[in-house]
Amino acid sequence: MKKIQISPSILSADFSQLGNEIKKLEDAGADMIHVDVMDGHFVPNLTIGPPVIKALRKYTSLIFDVHLMISPVHKYIKDFANAGADIITIHPEATDNLNESIKHIRTLEKKVGVSLNPNTEIDIIKNELENIDLILVMSVFPGFGGQKFIPEIIKKIELLKKIKDEKKYSYDIEVDGGINFANSKEVISAGANILVSGTTIFKENNGNIKKNIETLKEV
Ligand code: DX5
Ligand code: ZN
Repeated sequence: MKKIQISPSILSADFSQLGNEIKKLEDAGADMIHVDVMDGHFVPNLTIGPPVIKALRKYTSLIFDVHLMISPVHKYIKDFANAGADIITIHPEATDNLNESIKHIRTLEKKVGVSLNPNTEIDIIKNELENIDLILVMSVFPGFGGQKFIPEIIKKIELLKKIKDEKKYSYDIEVDGGINFANSKEVISAGANILVSGTTIFKENNGNIKKNIETLKEV
């Protein structure tokens, strides 16, 4: 079983102190940093872009797990790669040609992530599964932190794990949205090996980030 990793989402961090917040996450034992990029078009919210990621790059050597909730996404991939993204995760609905976008991320020598919204079936990416490093299963409709976990996505995690084991694929299964102490164990036993969390990590236990990361990792 792969080691459980935690990728805190900086969407819930203090945006006036992002550099220091990232250092705090690293010191607290985060395995990578989840950076939510939103364009106000693919999702009804607007956050940060490549210049901010470039500025944050020097604050940590942790993996930048960059979640692009932008459309069209293909023409911006290079900017995020150059800004310092390590994993570039795109939504299939945001590109005219998923295979071309995956190849483009590969040529930039970045890890390839593909994200499935709660209402997006695995079928849409079935021909790409062997080319993907990470599948980001959304357990909320993307756009905001602090939303309620959608339990129906557990079945999708189980199916992705089944396909992965049967076909001997190597993709990580990451789950994103409404992850808390009540559902983390269920998500892990369903087959997820990376958990994204914003609200739980920054708000629970009076903001004791280290304790919150450790608690989410418990199986
Ligand atoms: C939502 C983002 C998530 C979100 C997670 O669109 O993709 O990463 O920030 O935040 P919580 O853990 O608060 O649901
Ligand atoms: Zn995200």
